[in-house]
Amino acid sequence: MNVQIYDAHPTPASLHQEVLRGLQSSPKAIAPKFFYDARGSQLFDAICETPEYYPTRIEKQILRRYAGEISEIVGEGCLLIEPGSGSCQKVRLLLQDLKPSIYMPMEICHDHLLKAAQALVNEYDWLELSAVCADFTQLNKIPDMPDEPHRLAFFPGSTIGNFEPSQAVNFMRSIARLVGNQGGLLIGVDMKKPAKVLNAAYNDAQGLTADFNLNLLGRINRELNTDFNLENFKHKAFYNESEGRVEMHLVCERGHEVTLGEESFVLTNGEHIHTENSYKYSIDEFHELARMAGFDVERVWTDDEHLFSVHYLQNYDA
Ligand code: AVJ
Repeated sequence: MNVQIYDAHPTPASLHQEVLRGLQSSPKAIAPKFFYDARGSQLFDAICETPEYYPTRIEKQILRRYAGEISEIVGEGCLLIEPGSGSCQKVRLLLQDLKPSIYMPMEICHDHLLKAAQALVNEYDWLELSAVCADFTQLNKIPDMPDEPHRLAFFPGSTIGNFEPSQAVNFMRSIARLVGNQGGLLIGVDMKKPAKVLNAAYNDAQGLTADFNLNLLGRINRELNTDFNLENFKHKAFYNESEGRVEMHLVCERGHEVTLGEESFVLTNGEHIHTENSYKYSIDEFHELARMAGFDVERVWTDDEHLFSVHYLQNYDA
């Protein structure tokens, strides 16, 4: 086994800078990548177990069912790169069939990455693993990629939906560069569906999604010494049909002032902090973005109800 931690974790200064910029913009917004501190990562894992949050369950069904087919198309021995690997649950469904020569999980949460990588090498003793702690929106900064030309990026979970569509194209372009000519991208994409199903998925009855959303401010309080009063905020999530996305907000129900370093901000009654967009795509809509990023669409797999899709894309530079 080989565990390398390349640590490019965002610094407190970069968190400060991004939160500051978000609070200065109108409407206020904070990027969803900041959800994932240790507590946020745990809460996300718990959300994935709720009956309402179907994406994880359905995507795992698809991967389990088609792992053999996927591996036949990709071929054995690839360098398998997973940006945003979390607790490395989904990759387990592929490893046995895919037999990568190296698995490279990339994860922003240091704690989560270490635990997941350790558990994985204990379970798969043949697996060579090279872990990278990094913000995957900064893919160009990853140094020392293993010298393996046969590369597959694995990007499940519909995390691509957190980008604006134009940003999603840019991100997939950077993936295309990372995997090189003939390289592949196996990507999970949540599909458009009735608002009722989506609204339930982002408003689970146990309130885990609400806790996950609110923890963003808790995390900022802990790490930047701000004084957001979490009791003054309410979780709000809804499907914005005309934009094709689920939006999450934190709604301030009691105005108060918040201090961040030298600056202070007034949050007024009813003001929203926009914390996440989660775009949903039809198969055709997603393929249009994939082609704009320079990928050819090789295969698509979905479940019987067409709730979720998994796509195999290939980069033909020529
Ligand atoms: C992991 C980013 C795809 O957008 O559905 C879950 C995160 N947010 N519940 C998503 C999330 C609220 C999730 N992604």
